[in-house]
Amino acid sequence: MDTTLARISHLPAPAEGSFADSLVAGLAKSPKELACKYFYDEAGSRLFDQICELPEYYQTRTETALLTRYAPEIAALMGPGMEIVEFGAGSLRKVRILLDAAQDLRAYTPLDISGGYLGEVVRALAAEYPALTLRPLVGDFTLPLSIPDLPGNPRRAGFFPGSTIGNFKPDAAMALLRRMRGALNGGGLLIGVDLVKDPVRLHAAYNDANGVTALFNKNLLARANHELGADFDLDGFAHYAPYNAMAHRIEMYLVSLKRQSVSLCGQRFDFAQGEAVHTEDSHKYTIESFREMACRAGFNPRAVWTDEDRLFSLHWLESR
Ligand code: TRP
Repeated sequence: MDTTLARISHLPAPAEGSFADSLVAGLAKSPKELACKYFYDEAGSRLFDQICELPEYYQTRTETALLTRYAPEIAALMGPGMEIVEFGAGSLRKVRILLDAAQDLRAYTPLDISGGYLGEVVRALAAEYPALTLRPLVGDFTLPLSIPDLPGNPRRAGFFPGSTIGNFKPDAAMALLRRMRGALNGGGLLIGVDLVKDPVRLHAAYNDANGVTALFNKNLLARANHELGADFDLDGFAHYAPYNAMAHRIEMYLVSLKRQSVSLCGQRFDFAQGEAVHTEDSHKYTIESFREMACRAGFNPRAVWTDEDRLFSLHWLESR
């Protein structure tokens, strides 16, 4: 009997048509924008995994090295007998370091917007960790969420790596931290945050030589073509991701290379030559500015770990 699949329970999937609604609303705005969470369908999740392996993308390997190096300390701060809840779990690679170090782990609850991809990576994890109670949830962590209690009500520890927090504007990031704190029932949060640094280095991380990030950015258009029958010409748009040093963030755009119009859901959208569609930001923090934000969100920043070059930071925040 295959018990693996039976362990997968699903929250109601995000409402059908929300990608279409969001796309139409975003393209009707001036300036035009697209919501970044729609990057992560199955193809997008795979492309993102490729970004994480790029030589220019220092974030993943630096954070993984921090996790590996400080896992015993992290596990001690988390304490024994908890449930790890991961927000936007993706490939489930990093969490294995925590699963291995945790003391008397009760359960692991990965939450992700991409149900197909989550199902697949969870099956692989279940095979590797047969004794682990796994509770995958398909859902959008940017919406209000309540995670049902497990029997025995274990304490929760949140895990939010990859500097995904940087993909929210500071106000939204604060609100998200507050909401996560609520979902953790008083438990702490281990969160990865990319740091301000040499803009040239930041620029390179989002403009890789092989164009993987460009493909990832354009996956929004490819997805609109497959799923919604839109007719975006992928070669008619350029990936452009400059670092805005004043605002401490990478800003990602798709820039129309020509005058063109695209039909989508029965509507026509015109693009001027050179018109930019904003797709994502990636805000960078200092250790201090992030700790301050965490305080304002109701956390007590306890421990922080960073690499020698201060490229990336990992924070253990306790609920207050
Ligand atoms: N959280 C990642 C970051 O901001 C997401 C990311 C990395 C990303 N590269 C990207 C998002 C390229 C869109 C396009 O670093």
